[in-house]
Amino acid sequence: MARMRKASRLLRRDDARAAISRLVVAGCDGYFAVDPRQIFAREAPLELEIGAGRGDFIIARAASIPAHDFLAVELAGQVSSVMAARAGRHGLTNLRVLRMDARPLVNLMLPADSISACHIYFPDPWPKERQAKHRLFTPTLVASLKRVLRDGARLYVATDVAAYAEGIFAMLEEGGFARVAEAVPGASATGYARKFIAEGRAVFAGAFVIGKKPPLFQETPD
Ligand SMILES: C[S@@+](CC[C@H](N)C(=O)[O-])C[C@H]1O[C@@H](n2cnc3c(N)ncnc32)[C@H](O)[C@@H]1O
Repeated sequence: MARMRKASRLLRRDDARAAISRLVVAGCDGYFAVDPRQIFAREAPLELEIGAGRGDFIIARAASIPAHDFLAVELAGQVSSVMAARAGRHGLTNLRVLRMDARPLVNLMLPADSISACHIYFPDPWPKERQAKHRLFTPTLVASLKRVLRDGARLYVATDVAAYAEGIFAMLEEGGFARVAEAVPGASATGYARKFIAEGRAVFAGAFVIGKKPPLFQETPD
């Protein structure tokens, strides 16, 4: 209490106020945060698609589930603008497009336990070994997904590259996800899925759930 009184005396001084306005970089509070409740002005189950492309899947899903909210993340500027323009034509109020790298979003910017379903369809495979550093799926991404997904949330993944599927599924299981026998909603409904299926290519898809998360703070016995 005495310390708070001392701090408030200090903060009333003119030289302190001048130092604060000179030294504190403005606009940083909340800079790293994406607040879904503020974006959608309601609390509803929130679905995330990473690498949503032109939005074929997420636009149709947002239109068919108006009780859920949707965040579509797409790195490529023009592609994300096309997605937003297409979503605009449907008059959707429950979908927003984030033009950014999904990694900082799930690493830092989304609140923990905020996502009820995450969709990742046909992430770029970067097949050559020297390109491996560009792949989306890494143990760090898996840990970040675990951070943002709620208990019981689903993670849906599909790819046309068998070896990549094997690597992703093993990484997820190692990271605490369990595979569940469930249909993967985007495995035949994204732009790439439709193209690959029309070409007769195989699609490797999996639905995953995270095991019960431990509480943030464990009570210690006396
Ligand atoms: C092969 S396309 C698949 C698009 C869509 N999921 C589909 O199935 O039609 C991969 C997409 O992921 C996007 N992408 C790649 N890395 C990304 C990242 N780190 N964050 C967000 N989007 C990313 C690419 O720009 C591209 O549009």
